[in-house]
Amino acid sequence: MSKVVAIVGATGAVGVEFLKCLDERKFPLKELRLLASARSAGREMQFKNQTLKVTELTERSFDGVDIALFSAGSGISKKFAPAAVKAGAVVVDNSSAFRMDAGVPLVVPEINPEAIKTHKGVIANPNCSAIISITPLWPIHKVNPIRRLNIATYQAASGAGAAAMEELVDSTRAYLDGRDYQPKVLPHPYAFNLFSHNADVDPVTGYNGEEAKVIDETRKIFGVPDLRISITCVRVPVLRAHAVAVSFECERPITPEEVRAILAKAPGVRIVDDRAKNYFPMPKDASGQDDILVGRIRQDLGDPTGHTIALLSAGDQLLKGAALNAVQIAELL
Ligand code: A2P
Repeated sequence: MSKVVAIVGATGAVGVEFLKCLDERKFPLKELRLLASARSAGREMQFKNQTLKVTELTERSFDGVDIALFSAGSGISKKFAPAAVKAGAVVVDNSSAFRMDAGVPLVVPEINPEAIKTHKGVIANPNCSAIISITPLWPIHKVNPIRRLNIATYQAASGAGAAAMEELVDSTRAYLDGRDYQPKVLPHPYAFNLFSHNADVDPVTGYNGEEAKVIDETRKIFGVPDLRISITCVRVPVLRAHAVAVSFECERPITPEEVRAILAKAPGVRIVDDRAKNYFPMPKDASGQDDILVGRIRQDLGDPTGHTIALLSAGDQLLKGAALNAVQIAELL
C-alpha cells in the first residue's frame, strides 16, 4: 500500500540521498513531504519528474504522514519526533537522539530486522561507522561468534553534514591557491590533513563520542551487551565514504578462506580483495554504491592462536551509513 512519507532535513546531505533512494528503490509513495528549516521554506527540489516545494518543519507538519524520515540532528529529532508519533507516523530517525533508549529498536536490516516489530513509534538508524563496520561482521558472528573487536575508522566529511563537505572542497581549493582558510564547521584544518574525530572526548575514558556510539550501538544491535570493543575514530579528507580497518577475534579458530566464503553470500556486502593488483576497498569506489566493500581479508598475525582476522571495509556514509539503511527500514515497515 502506498505511503505518505515526510523527510525532515530534506535539504541536508542525507536528506537529498533519501529522495534518491526512495526514487531508485521505487518506494510506494502516495505523497512525499519535504521539511526543513524556515531558511529553506519555498525552495524547490526535484523528485522524479516533479518539482516539490520545501516547507518549514512545525509540529503540524505530520498530519496524515505514515512514515517520517528524520535527519536534521538530535535536537530536532527530540523536539519534533513526539509530534510525528502523536500524529500517527512511524519515525525512522537518523540521529543519535533515541538510539540507546531501551524501548527503541536500533536496526540494520541485514542484522536484526525482527527488532522492528517492537517499535512504539520510533525506530533508530544506527551510527554510520557502526553500520559500515558491523554489517559485514554479522554473518561471520552467526557462524563463529565474535568475542573481541578492534576498529580504526577513516571517516569522510559527509558525516558532519553538507557544510563540512563544502568546507573540505573550499579549504582544499584555498590550500592549492596558497590562500589562508579559517575552518568554520570542523575544528581543525581539513585539506591535506586528518584529525581525531571531532566529537567531544570523555575526560575520564579518553574515548570520544563517536567511538562511544560505535561501542554501545554494536553491543545493542548484536545483542551482546559485554562485547569487547576498542576503537579509534579519525576524520580524513574524503567527501562521502568511510573506510574502517577491523580486527576481530572469534570463539573458535577461523581462516581468511572461511571468511571469504561467508562474505561471498552475505547481503549488502561485496568482496574487493585483489592481492596481486593491490586493489582493495577505497572510498572512491564505495561512493554512490549500496554495498559495503570488504577486502584485505587476512589472518591477524597479532594472534598466533588463529582466532583473529583483519580486514578493511569501505561504505558510502550517506547511503548504507544513513539514507539507504533508513529507507530499507521503511521498506520493512
Ligand atoms: P536547512 O537546509 O533549512 O538548514 P546537514 O546534516 O547536511 O547539515 O543537514 C541538516 C538538515 O537539517 C538540513 O536539511 C537543515 O535544513 C535541517 N535543519 C536544520 N535546522 C533545522 C530546523 N531548526 N528545523 C528544521 N530543519 C532543520
